[in-house]
Amino acid sequence: MASIRFDNVTKRFVDEKNGGMFTAVHGASFEIKDQEFVVFVGPSGCGKTTSLRMIAGLERQTDGDILIDGRVVNTVHPKDRDIAMVFQDYALYPHMSISDNLSFGLKNMGRPASEIKEKVDYAANVLGLSHLLDRKPKEMSGGQRQRVAVGRAIVRNPKVFLFDEPLSNLDAKLRVQMRIELAQLHKRLGATIVYVTHDQVEAMTLGQRIVVMNQGHIQQIASPRELYRNPANMFVAGFIGSPPMNFFDAVLEGNKLRVGDMLLEIPADRVADYQGYNGKDIILGLRPEDIHDIDFAYNIPTHNQARVQVEVVEHLGAENLVYFRVGERMITAKVAGESSITTGDTPTFVFNMDKMHLFDKTTEQRI
Ligand SMILES: Nc1ncnc2c1ncn2[C@@H]1O[C@H](COP(=O)(O)OP(=O)(O)OP(=O)(O)O)[C@@H](O)[C@H]1O
Ligand SMILES: [Mg+2]
Repeated sequence: MASIRFDNVTKRFVDEKNGGMFTAVHGASFEIKDQEFVVFVGPSGCGKTTSLRMIAGLERQTDGDILIDGRVVNTVHPKDRDIAMVFQDYALYPHMSISDNLSFGLKNMGRPASEIKEKVDYAANVLGLSHLLDRKPKEMSGGQRQRVAVGRAIVRNPKVFLFDEPLSNLDAKLRVQMRIELAQLHKRLGATIVYVTHDQVEAMTLGQRIVVMNQGHIQQIASPRELYRNPANMFVAGFIGSPPMNFFDAVLEGNKLRVGDMLLEIPADRVADYQGYNGKDIILGLRPEDIHDIDFAYNIPTHNQARVQVEVVEHLGAENLVYFRVGERMITAKVAGESSITTGDTPTFVFNMDKMHLFDKTTEQRI
């Protein structure tokens, strides 16, 4: 298997509209370890596919080096990089059986029939396709076709698998099922996998580490847990987590934060960290799950309380999303499904400030 490294990699495209150059990836540096499952995540146009295509060699970087297993591959042809890529639109040959779809690449490479059969049987077995080998793609469900596309990559036994939004055509239930299968597949194959998605839930559930990108810049590289707990800046804080983190305009006053007409106390052991910001505007970040209906605030400090006017309540079953306004900003609280808060109420919420994040208002970096 293989490790992948980007050393200060930049990709510029000719910008046809403005006649200049457009930078899709700005000086990206990272290392993906052998057998690691890494996810690239970020909004549309942030440079995910471009980065993946540069690893595959389908796109040549403008600047910097790409290394596979410690070897610079800048000029190595895609077919000599030993990489398999599964795209979003996993075009299968419609007139061929699944078996033929799986073996097509190997046949083209002139491999012996016994080897082809062995590899196709292995991939079909791993992916639960053995009983479907005689079918045509149109006789299969979307999830099954998706697995065939993955199977075509497996039979090649590549050093690296690249996936570009491979599940985006599937319905929500199938996506969850395929997600689990991909995670298991990774364990079974012990392969290095780079996976692109704009869906942060998919990123969090699949990635051992996640590369968060925005507008061609890497924002943070960390484990799902670390991204959730210690986001490097407001972009990551607002992107990872669902519903996203709430942001409040605040002023630091000693050991307290003034937020609208609320005064929230900072945990005693963290007060010293922020004194450079005393008297200044600052952004408070608090996730929806850290704002509680006071009737259901168990095992958390309850001294930071405020009454607010509820604008909307959404009932999701296990939990309710409660929306209210602080200043200009709409705030979301995720409360217990049993909570009786309804639209128009003025209930008391508990703000669990042990979970607070503070950001510099100008740089948007976490402090
Ligand atoms: N061949 C090209 N020529 C010019 N610009 C390009 C080219 N390919 C990509 N871009 C631009 O580079 C940026 C990054 O594109 P990329 O396809 O990597 O985004 P992405 O993160 O994969 O987005 P999505 O989630 O929509 O697939 C975009 O602004 C895109 O318009
Ligand atoms: Mg893309």
